Amino acid sequence: MTRPTGREHTGKQRGMSVSSENRSVAGSIPSSCLVTIFWAAEKLVEETGVDVVKLHVGDPYFDPSEDVAQAFVDAVRRGDTKYTGVEGLPALREAAADKLRTDNGLDSEAGRLLISPGSAQGLTGLLQALAEPGAEILLPELHWPVHLQQSLLAGFRPVLYPLGPGFRPDPERIAAAATPRTRVLLINSPANPTGAVLDGDEIRTLLDLARRNRWQVISDEAYEHFCYEGDHISVASFEREIPVAERIVHSVFTFSKGFAMTGYRLGYVAPATDRMADVMKVVQEAGIIGTSTPVQHAGIAALNSRADSTAANRKLVQRNRDVALPPLIKAGLLRELPAGGWYAMLDVTRSGLDAESFAMRLLERKGVAVVAGNGFAMRPDVDDQGRIRSHDYAPWARHLVRIAFCVDPVELETGVRRIIEFVEECAAEAKG
Ligand SMILES: Cc1ncc(COP(=O)(O)O)c(C=O)c1O
Repeated sequence: MTRPTGREHTGKQRGMSVSSENRSVAGSIPSSCLVTIFWAAEKLVEETGVDVVKLHVGDPYFDPSEDVAQAFVDAVRRGDTKYTGVEGLPALREAAADKLRTDNGLDSEAGRLLISPGSAQGLTGLLQALAEPGAEILLPELHWPVHLQQSLLAGFRPVLYPLGPGFRPDPERIAAAATPRTRVLLINSPANPTGAVLDGDEIRTLLDLARRNRWQVISDEAYEHFCYEGDHISVASFEREIPVAERIVHSVFTFSKGFAMTGYRLGYVAPATDRMADVMKVVQEAGIIGTSTPVQHAGIAALNSRADSTAANRKLVQRNRDVALPPLIKAGLLRELPAGGWYAMLDVTRSGLDAESFAMRLLERKGVAVVAGNGFAMRPDVDDQGRIRSHDYAPWARHLVRIAFCVDPVELETGVRRIIEFVEECAAEAKG
């Protein structure tokens, strides 16, 4: 392990002094690659006023349908702004249960569902609910950095398993990475950042592996509405025939992506068992008390009109993918179009720059913000207390950068053109 954790640096950026006494797990976690570029882009805009082409954030260029905004405003206007139960509004849980039954093949009863302020909070709660002292969680070596942060904060020791070809989970490698302390396997299909979408056979094999080893499974289905070459398959749909008390798949969903409701902050969790739903209620009580009431009303409207909105939103992002990304394949920066999700991982080896230098120089020279891909492959060295002692990055991720293709089509095409130009310029400079 070669790098310091960056803990002191993080403290400075937040304007706090981190004393040497601060030995918390949270204090050992460095800022992620996502916020690093976010801050850099904001700073550039503030200092120079240039228009930055923002390909670094998974925020869509389209808005929620009008009925969603109306339901939110109506709830506020009629004063429906008091606390709801920790588990959420009964009417929203009913609507979510109906959607899960019809669209996802899950038979979760409304009574087992929990509404959360965004699926990130749902994931956090679920991880807290599942964490045991010393327990390990299996995450892919190329992962959403927030999954790693959440795991550490909940008290898990993350174990990163190597991926197979096309960044797909390989059951043999997962089994080889597991230890007797492994408790949870996290599955994220469609995946952030790789865009990989698992098929039914792959999911079944992973579930069999988890069941054989008595692991729990967390299925993060944030991008369920964005599959471009087939249908999304929910992991928990394979557990329908299993008695509820024996199920192991805990699923997490969001309104942020399919309904373009990122800033509303709304998601929901379908715990596998009644017991886990009860534990989650305690965690939600302690962590959030409840989810914003008017936002939950907006969620009901979103679910009621979902057939039109989610299909329309998928088409918009798919069009972006099909129109804007092929030039990256032609330029040798992208192997194939992502099968799902909102992101593409580019290989910028030809530029001669490592991912972090590439992202920073691209921002400075071309005004395009992308995320350095090595940050999705951080490898923490964790001590006995669950604190990061040091970290490095998988060497094979040194030349990867992630772009989001859910953004405005003109911005996206501009960003892609500038990325290709920049790579050509860097390659020419390197040749001398
Ligand atoms: C894989 C994945 N899961 C969950 C989320 C969280 O979304 P939210 O908290 O907005 O529901 C994101 C957001 O980017 C994501 O990429």
